[in-house]
Amino acid sequence: MKNASKTHPATAPLTMLTRGALTARLVGGAFVAALLLAPALTSSPAHAAPHGPRVKSSTSAANLPPASYTAEQAQRGAESYKEACAVCHGPALAGAFDAPSLTGRLVANWSDGPLGDLFTYMSGAMPLSSPGALSAEENADILAFILHENGVAAGKTPLPTTAAALGKVRFPKVDVQKLTPGGK
Ligand code: HEC
Repeated sequence: MKNASKTHPATAPLTMLTRGALTARLVGGAFVAALLLAPALTSSPAHAAPHGPRVKSSTSAANLPPASYTAEQAQRGAESYKEACAVCHGPALAGAFDAPSLTGRLVANWSDGPLGDLFTYMSGAMPLSSPGALSAEENADILAFILHENGVAAGKTPLPTTAAALGKVRFPKVDVQKLTPGGK
C-alpha cells in the first residue's frame, strides 16, 4: 500500500487516453458496450440460432417510463400463449428442454433495454416453429401476459402494438427474487 498513489493499476490505462476520448467513453459507455456486443452476436452465423440472434438496441431503458398494459390484453394474451407458445415454453411459462422459462430470468435478459427490443425479438423469432406468424396485436397481448406473469400489475393504459411505441417504454421494475420459474 506504500506506493499506492504511484502505481495504482486503475490510473495506468487512463494516461493512455486523451481527455476527450475519456469523456466520450464515460458518457457513451453503455452505448459503446452495446456496439461492441452487437457484432459479437451477429458475426458468427455458424453458431447463430436458426431464427437469428437476439439483438438489443443500444438505447438504455433507464430513463424511459414504465410500460402499462390492461387486464383485457393479458387475458387475450393468455389465450394466444396457450395456442402458440405453451407447447414449448410450458403452460406455466416454466420452459422445457431448450425453450427457456419466460419468467424471472427473462426480466434480467430484457429489462435493460426498451420493451420494443423484446417485442421485436418475439415478433420476428417466435413461435420458433413458425416465426413471425402472429399479428402485432397478438404479440402485444402475449407481451402483456408475460408482464403479468412476471409480477407487473395491470393498469388502465393498454400496451402499444408497434415496436416504435414500445421502444419508448421500459419493462416495469419487478422483484425477480419473488418469482420462481413458471410460478408466482
Ligand atoms: C417450437 C418451440 C417454441 C415455440 C412454439 C415458441 N418458442 Fe420461444 N423459444 C424457443 C426456444 C428454443 C428459445 C431459445 C432460443 C435461443 O436461445 O436462441 C425461445 C426463446 C424465447 C424468448 C427469449 C427468452 C429470453 O429470456 O431471452 C422469448 C421471449 C420467447 N421465446 C417467446 C415466445 C413466445 C411469445 C412464443 C409464442 C408466440 C414462443 N416463444 C413460442 C422455443 C419456442
